[in-house]
Amino acid sequence: MADTAKITYQGKTYEFPVVEGTFGEKAIDIGNLRKKTGLITFDPGFMSTGSCKSSITFLDGENGILLYRGIPIDQLAEKSTFIETSYLLIYGILPNSKQLADFNHHITHHSMVHESIKRFYDGFPINSHPMAVCSAVVGSLATFYQNELSVRDDQEVEIAIHRLLAKLPTIAAYSYKKSIGQPLPYPDNSLDYSTNFLKMMFATPCEEYEVDPVIAKALEVLLILHADHEQNCSTSSVRLVGSSMCNLFASISAAIYALWGPLHGGANQAVIEMLQKIYADGGDVQKYIKKAKDPNDPFRLMGFGHRVYKNFDPRSKIIKTMADKVLKNLSKSEPLLDIALELEEIALKEEYFIEKKLYPNVDFYSGLIYKAINFPVNMFPVMFAMGRLPGWIAQWKELQKDADFRIGRPRQIYTGIETRDYIPIESR
Ligand code: CMC
Repeated sequence: MADTAKITYQGKTYEFPVVEGTFGEKAIDIGNLRKKTGLITFDPGFMSTGSCKSSITFLDGENGILLYRGIPIDQLAEKSTFIETSYLLIYGILPNSKQLADFNHHITHHSMVHESIKRFYDGFPINSHPMAVCSAVVGSLATFYQNELSVRDDQEVEIAIHRLLAKLPTIAAYSYKKSIGQPLPYPDNSLDYSTNFLKMMFATPCEEYEVDPVIAKALEVLLILHADHEQNCSTSSVRLVGSSMCNLFASISAAIYALWGPLHGGANQAVIEMLQKIYADGGDVQKYIKKAKDPNDPFRLMGFGHRVYKNFDPRSKIIKTMADKVLKNLSKSEPLLDIALELEEIALKEEYFIEKKLYPNVDFYSGLIYKAINFPVNMFPVMFAMGRLPGWIAQWKELQKDADFRIGRPRQIYTGIETRDYIPIESR
C-alpha cells in the first residue's frame, strides 16, 4: 500500500500521497492541498519544499554524498573530464568513444563568437563586473541565434546547448581581457576545453604561451566539482525562468545573475576578500571567529556553512588537496592559505560551528586555487558559472520534458493594508 500523510484542519482529515525517491527520501505530495482544504503551505527559503522530481544529481547532506547520475563526485573528479561529465549530466549516460568524440567536436567547433559580439565589450565600462558582462552577452546570444529559441524542438535545443558550452569560456575570457586592455583572442580549437580557456585568459599575441598541464587538470577538476548541485538558487532560477517556456539562452543568463550573489557563487570571491582583510588586519584569526559567533555582528565566515551539507561538503575535501598541489606546483607560498587553514582548524573545534553544523564548503578553498593561477577575484564567480553550466542545461532540459511540467508560480500570504480608497494628491 502506498504511503500517505494526513492533515487535520478544522475537524476534517485530508489524506495526501507520499512520494519516495531512489534513496528513500520522502515528500508529501500537496499538489491539490489548496483545492481540497483552501490552505497553502508557507515555507520561506524552501526549507522543506521539493520543487521537482529529478534524476540528475543526488546529494545527502547528512553523510556528505554527491552523485551525478549515480556516480560519486570523487570518481568523476579523479577519472573524468569536464566535457565527459557535461555529457553525463545532460544526456544521463557516460558516452561511448564515438558519442564523446562527436560531442567534443560540436563543442570545439562552436567556440568562436560572432564578430559583432566583440563590439559589445567596447560598450561596457572598463571596470564592469565580469558576471554582469557574461550574463548580458549570454542573453544576447538569443538575438544572434533566433532559429534556436524553440524549447520544444530537440534539434534547436541541441544546437543551443553546443553553442552555450562552447562559447561561455570565450565570453568569459573576453570580459577579463577587455578589463585589462588586451586584445580579444580567438579560441584555439586544437586544445582541450580548459587549456583553451586558460590560453585565452593568459596568452598575449606578443609571446609564446604554454599552459601548465597541472593547472589545466586542476581547472578541469574544479569545473567538474561545480557542474551540478541539484535545486540550489541559480538552478531553481533556471527552472523558474524556463518554466515560462523561455529559451535556453535567456534562462542561462538569468542563472548567471542568480549565481552572482555572495551567498551563492559569489562566495568564492567573498572568501578571498575576507582572508585578505584578516591578513591586512594582522592575521588575528581568533578575532574573526569571535565576530562570526557574535549574534550582533553581521560578519559571517565566508566559505562556511551550507543549506544542505550538515556534516562535510565532499567537494571541499577534494579542493583542499588540489589547492595544496597547485601551490606546490607553482612553488608559491600563499599567506592566505595559512590563514584559511588556521581558520578551518579553529572553527572545526568551536562549539558554535559544531552546534550549527557549519563546515567549509566548496568555495572555501576554490578561490585560493584561482588566485594562485592568477585569476582576478571578480573572475571567481565566472569560473563557478562555467562549471555549473552543464548542470543548468541538464535541469532546464529535464524540466521541459517533465510530465508534470507547468509554469512555476508560488503563492503568498498577503500581509499588507486592507482594501482602501484612492486619495487624490491634493488631499494627502
Ligand atoms: N558564519 C557564521 N555563522 C553562520 C554562517 C557562517 N558562514 N553560516 C550560517 N551561520 C549561522 C547563522 O547565523 C544562523 O545562526 P542562528 O541560527 O543563530 O540564526 C545559523 O548558522 C543557520 O544559518 P542560516 O543562514 O539560517 O542557514 P542557511 O541554510 O539559510 O544558509 C548559507 C546557508 C550557505 C547561505 C550560510 O551558511 C552562509 O551565509 N554561508 C556563508 C556564505 C557561503 O559560504 N556561501 C556559499 C555556499 S556553498 C556554494 C553554493 O552552493 O553557492
